[in-house]
Amino acid sequence: MCGIVGYVGDQNACDIIIDGLKKLEYRGYDSSGIALCKDGKLEVHKYKGRISNLEDAISEKNLSSSIGIGHTRWATHGAPSDVNAHPHTNLNKTIAVVHNGIIENFVELKEWLIKDHDIVFNSETDTEVIAHLISVFYEGDLTDAVYKAVEKMRGAYALGVVCSKEPDKLVAVRKDSPLVVGLGEGCNFIASDIPALLKHVRKIYLIENNETVVLTKNKVTLYNAERQEVKRDVFHVTWDADAAEKEGYDHFMLKEIYEQPKGIFETLTRRLNEKDEINLDGISMTKEDIERFNKVYIVACGTAYHAGMVGKFIIEKLAKVPVEIDVASEFRYRDPFVDDKTLFIAVSQSGETLDTLAALREAKRKGARILSIVNVVGSSVARESDDVFYTWAGPEIAVASTKAYTTQLVCMYLIALYMGRTKDCLPVEQYNHYVSELKDIPDKIKQILNQEKNILNMAKELYKQEQVFFIGRGPDVGVSYEGSLKLKEISYINSFAIAAGELKHGTIALIEQDTLVIALATQDALFEKMLSNIQEVKARGAYVVGLAKENNKEIERQSDKVIYIPECMDEITPLLSVIPLQILAYHIAKLRGCDIDKPKNLAKSVTVE
Ligand code: F6R
Repeated sequence: MCGIVGYVGDQNACDIIIDGLKKLEYRGYDSSGIALCKDGKLEVHKYKGRISNLEDAISEKNLSSSIGIGHTRWATHGAPSDVNAHPHTNLNKTIAVVHNGIIENFVELKEWLIKDHDIVFNSETDTEVIAHLISVFYEGDLTDAVYKAVEKMRGAYALGVVCSKEPDKLVAVRKDSPLVVGLGEGCNFIASDIPALLKHVRKIYLIENNETVVLTKNKVTLYNAERQEVKRDVFHVTWDADAAEKEGYDHFMLKEIYEQPKGIFETLTRRLNEKDEINLDGISMTKEDIERFNKVYIVACGTAYHAGMVGKFIIEKLAKVPVEIDVASEFRYRDPFVDDKTLFIAVSQSGETLDTLAALREAKRKGARILSIVNVVGSSVARESDDVFYTWAGPEIAVASTKAYTTQLVCMYLIALYMGRTKDCLPVEQYNHYVSELKDIPDKIKQILNQEKNILNMAKELYKQEQVFFIGRGPDVGVSYEGSLKLKEISYINSFAIAAGELKHGTIALIEQDTLVIALATQDALFEKMLSNIQEVKARGAYVVGLAKENNKEIERQSDKVIYIPECMDEITPLLSVIPLQILAYHIAKLRGCDIDKPKNLAKSVTVE
């Protein structure tokens, strides 16, 4: 969480940094700040609240400088406040630091700084410790002082540091939190993520763990932990800067919902050749590897975990291999049965989720083969995996994930199909049927998007509800979890998902007159069972919105309202049924006046445990 930006060059650092921070607001948005170096002094401005608060506060000051750093925060240590906002400085305000991550031993370091160096702390943050540490070690060389400070620190960090005594230099360090460097003409940049830099540069260095970067306006030098210079290939960003803009949509979330046909088409077609065979270009997993795996482990968090729930169903069905699934924060603290016969699939949009990354490392340590499904090219999960199956969703900015989820599902289908064919347990006719159905999905999603107005009307009737239950069976269970998460995270309605057959084992006690139940009944094979579950809740007074394939009209007799999805194979419905749930959540949240792209207490990239 948190976003950092830094600039050194001939233009006005203030404007560039503020603009970059706005592109990173998805990483956290409870406070923000900027430090600029001018005339041998540091000027620091920081405020609680959105970046617009910072902008308003400095708008009349005409700040200008050729070097500076900025930060948008998601609080970990210390509540959101002006004082706890970054940048943090040393006592005589010559050194300023922005930080994304957590310093695990900050209490110990703080005690040492207070006791041995008479430091008086201003904030409750772990980051302030870094500014004082660098100051204690500073003897005229900022890079050296940063190295010495980092040696004392444990935890995760991407740092940007400036010093008024060396006003042409910006020093940055990365360990476990993302950091990229933008290479300009007569200017250079740092940022937590590429969208912050796209207005200015296309040439990027992806910084590796334990590397330090020294930037001046004409030079960028990378060093490893041993202080040796390292060379890095330039990564050329090919995607459009507009991909990170709203393009006329009211919210990024809605834009991203509408981008799903394109993202799915891209993710699919980049892996299918003209004969509709799956190509694993860039993936080193062999037939022998696939035959050796006796288990697949899917590990992820949040929405990516929900994609994994569907993935388990699909991979077991098509590839005939047992699949276990776990949330990353649980996996890493158990002692799971993972060995060199395990295929470990890490699923992550950002590729920076700390729990997923830690779980991946744990699985790797136990000998598993790591295949990740990732959206952000060059992210930590991607770099630490044996192989990467990229989703081609394009940048996802809204905190609530939509297009990442559906493209993750497409990867799951492709992996399952590939494994099924390789192991010869999936007949070619069935394979062809699946592929042809997958290829129809973008058009079928467009048909659902055309129903947005109907779903809006439904949202108008439902938005005042304070409690919602999502129920489903088979692959609809994973989609129910995802629909429920979408609704709760952006509308703050207390929503809950459960396997429909489980309701009667306790949860049905909560169903009373007018309780809203959204019942997913997309599975032909389970349709009648679902109708029984709907009747059970109706009998207790529930108001039911049924979701079914368009030929299953029987649902109309059992439900108060119905949403239809186009006909398709049972196994493929998760790619369609989630779309109306995303749209419904969006409109309910909008009608409730919620801040859809930036829900309270959340951040897009969760780089803390
Ligand atoms: C919810 C959402 C989160 C993420 C989760 C994992 O809409 O976006 O639940 O899915 O934090 O993030 P990634 O996929 O970046 O690892």
